[in-house]
Amino acid sequence: MAKATYRVCTLPGDGIGPEIMAEGKKVLAAVGEKAGVDFVCEDHLIGGAAIDTCGSPLPDSTLDAAKASNAVLLASVGGPKWDSTDPNAPRPEQGLLGIRKGLGLYTNLRPVKIYDALAGASTLRPEVIKGVDLVIVRELTGGLYFGRRERFYDEAGAGANGGRGQRAYDTMEYREYEVERIARKAFEAARKRRNKVTSVDKRNVLETSRMWREVVHRVHDEEFPEVELEDLLVDNTAMQLINRPADFDVVVTENMFGDILSDEAAQITGSLGMLASASLGDGVSLFEPSAGSAPDIAGKDIANPLAQILSVELMLRYSFQMDEQADWVANAVRSVLDDGWRTVDIADDATPADHVLGCTAMGDKVVEYL
Ligand code: IPM
Ligand code: MG
Repeated sequence: MAKATYRVCTLPGDGIGPEIMAEGKKVLAAVGEKAGVDFVCEDHLIGGAAIDTCGSPLPDSTLDAAKASNAVLLASVGGPKWDSTDPNAPRPEQGLLGIRKGLGLYTNLRPVKIYDALAGASTLRPEVIKGVDLVIVRELTGGLYFGRRERFYDEAGAGANGGRGQRAYDTMEYREYEVERIARKAFEAARKRRNKVTSVDKRNVLETSRMWREVVHRVHDEEFPEVELEDLLVDNTAMQLINRPADFDVVVTENMFGDILSDEAAQITGSLGMLASASLGDGVSLFEPSAGSAPDIAGKDIANPLAQILSVELMLRYSFQMDEQADWVANAVRSVLDDGWRTVDIADDATPADHVLGCTAMGDKVVEYL
């Protein structure tokens, strides 16, 4: 029988991106060898690296390659080098937003789980974080991120006290089908988990939220009546996530709220370098770590590659239906941690110096445990 071949579009990006990507690829290759599957990785430019080389954060060649692949594995984009207040300067983040939109990745899954071995890394008390296992389902191609926006001079509108008259706005808009499809994804995810969905909105203020709640309830009543559904205002959710994180199962929300809440949820674990995310649409999917490009530690071989490696796990699960092989990766990471191996960001006073690994050595360690 011919060996199965999967084409993976790899986007190392900026900062620690190339280093952690190398470890992700290493693990993918090891899984491929063990499973008898060929993963063919092809690097393409995105973010600041793409701006430097071709002036655009998302060259057409990258989007085309992503569309032609079986899955996209991304590391991270951005850094101070490309920070600018000039609204016309290209920004690395536009590469990320562009590929989300270009591939139609409207569902972003961000699982947040506590590893027993790392429970001490959280700033919350052990009894509060015990059993935390939730997933944020963030709408990823609508709302404020992609709405109409403008910045302009409006001399007539200058303030009485010598204000300069600049104006700017962003708009939050949702269409009913956009809410419907993300709600469906959330309920489907809940069915495979603990059967509970928390829908987050700001219905007491925003019209988009009033529609959001109505549509989520309609989808629930018509298609998923057996799933438990609770509504929570976004500000209250921010409190409850800290107060009773273990109560949450699936949390579904619009793009901007999801951006903010997923960072908060990630911090519950205290180890951002461990969290991976999956962005899914109706075609090719994209997998990436939740943390950023950490330019301050780039090139030092001290970054934590585990989130990138766990992105490979999600890719095996969601794009290739290789659940068994995904479990290999998840178990290898868990065992590495259980045996006390750490990168510096997740090490503590109890970690012996010879158990603190660099980025490359951590990738090797996971392969060894595979
Ligand atoms: C994220 C990031 C991005 C976002 C940035 C880099 C544009 O914060 O993936 O959460 O806001 O979506
Ligand atoms: Mg974010």
